[in-house]
Amino acid sequence: MADKIKVLLTEEEVTRRISEVAAEISRDYAGRHVHLLCVLKGGVFFTCELAKRLDLSVSLDFMSVSSYGSGTQSSGAVRIIKDLDEPLEGKDVIIVEDIIDSGRTLSYLIEILNKRNPKSIELCTLLDKPERRVRKEVEVKYTCFTIPDEFVVGYGLDYDQKYRNLPYIGVVEV
Ligand code: IMP
Ligand code: MG
Repeated sequence: MADKIKVLLTEEEVTRRISEVAAEISRDYAGRHVHLLCVLKGGVFFTCELAKRLDLSVSLDFMSVSSYGSGTQSSGAVRIIKDLDEPLEGKDVIIVEDIIDSGRTLSYLIEILNKRNPKSIELCTLLDKPERRVRKEVEVKYTCFTIPDEFVVGYGLDYDQKYRNLPYIGVVEV
């Protein structure tokens, strides 16, 4: 049976906000080359829409991670399913994520990636659920939307691998 989905952010709202954040990044990094790291799979729609709007020299790389342990509590360690193709040494890196929830994934990811000696590393997320944050040390430089503690889908985010393709962000009604 199909789930009912309530629209939280329309496609227009999302793209308008991505344009604003892209303009902010373009100002902050003016004259520099930016290396965008897309965290698969959820970050892929946002990465494309963001990258298209950056008025900068841009390169892209992709990585896929998964949390260790299942159930309600993850250990905080992440397993790299697909590593980056290129080194980070000396690069201005921006990690592009779909959503920051507990912050465990990113906290661990930043720790691993910092060991590869990038020139700088910042975080850009489509959505942030600060109420859920466990890893308070995770600093997010660019956030498109801060949302309440609800499970959202669309624009790359899934529920059981479904709904990533929705052009808007919605809440699955149970
Ligand atoms: P964290 O380590 O708890 O911050 O995990 C973040 C990851 O959990 C995201 O990259 C998503 O894959 C997933 N996630 C967290 N909240 C949601 C949600 O509301 N919808 C879909 N996926 C979510
Ligand atoms: Mg993710």
